[in-house]
Amino acid sequence: MRKAVIPVAGLGTRFLPATKAMPKEMLPVVDKPAIQYVVEEAVRAGISDVLMITGRNKRALEDHFDRVPFIEQALEAKGDHTRLAAVREASSLADIHYVRQGDPKGLGHAVLRAQSHVGNEPFAVLLGDDLIDEQDEVLQEMARVQAETGGSVVALMEVEPSQISSYGCADVVPQADGGFVRIHGLVEKPAVDEAPSNLAVIGRYVLHPRVFDVLAETPAGRGGEIQLTDALQTLATAEGEGSGVFGVIFRGRRFDTGDKLSYLKAVFTIASEREDLGPALNEWLDSVRTPANRV
Ligand code: UTP
Repeated sequence: MRKAVIPVAGLGTRFLPATKAMPKEMLPVVDKPAIQYVVEEAVRAGISDVLMITGRNKRALEDHFDRVPFIEQALEAKGDHTRLAAVREASSLADIHYVRQGDPKGLGHAVLRAQSHVGNEPFAVLLGDDLIDEQDEVLQEMARVQAETGGSVVALMEVEPSQISSYGCADVVPQADGGFVRIHGLVEKPAVDEAPSNLAVIGRYVLHPRVFDVLAETPAGRGGEIQLTDALQTLATAEGEGSGVFGVIFRGRRFDTGDKLSYLKAVFTIASEREDLGPALNEWLDSVRTPANRV
């Protein structure tokens, strides 16, 4: 698996007005934009080629992964090598390409825009606002399952049953060995009482390129958008090369930085574990949690 597709063309309405003029993927999580963590995760999984599906208002993303000579010169002149390395890191992570989605007609439509860049090989899709713990190697495990099964693979996470209507939901059959599940059916954002399980699809996929042909034929579904979930449902029940959808159950930490509360949890969690910020932040958090200090 050499290539990753990162769709970042969504409107980010849940985070308005912060995302009125700035992409939600550029919101800082401590001192890096959320999207940089996602690209770093892809690179850790051995990916060297990243295609971002962008849209209007997303130029800041391209600038972030580009060189900025005048900042680099200023830091070099000051001898600030630590910051210089941090600034250069984003522009040397991977070979990053961009294509615009045009109308944001859904995640499936965004993925379909990657067809000519990806060609005929399995590829990863990482949602640009989903952060996964750095220690976790779910993408590597998904690539292994894709190679073993020849189908497509999604990451699944157990959620509280009341939360399932915010996610795509999977109807699964555990496989006897191999540590993954086979997916029979997928429903996008089901009503709580109609959900086939509490297994939610999270923003990591390793897809067989057959998904492009299916997406091209997939009509607009829920919310008038072309849903990746609907294309995966078709692949789950199809036959022949590239058919079958499998799930790897993710049990680690994951944050949706497009959601305000989850974004705040990401910032506090990551900061509180950093050597430079953690001790002081944790001390302050403990002090404000002490009843005597509550307003
Ligand atoms: P979301 O539904 O989380 O993104 O889509 P959104 O539409 O930006 O968010 P809200 O609900 O309005 O706050 C999941 C991912 O798919 C991308 C988004 O950028 C996000 O990474 N996406 C979604 C696209 O690239 N294009 C689309 O048409 C829709």
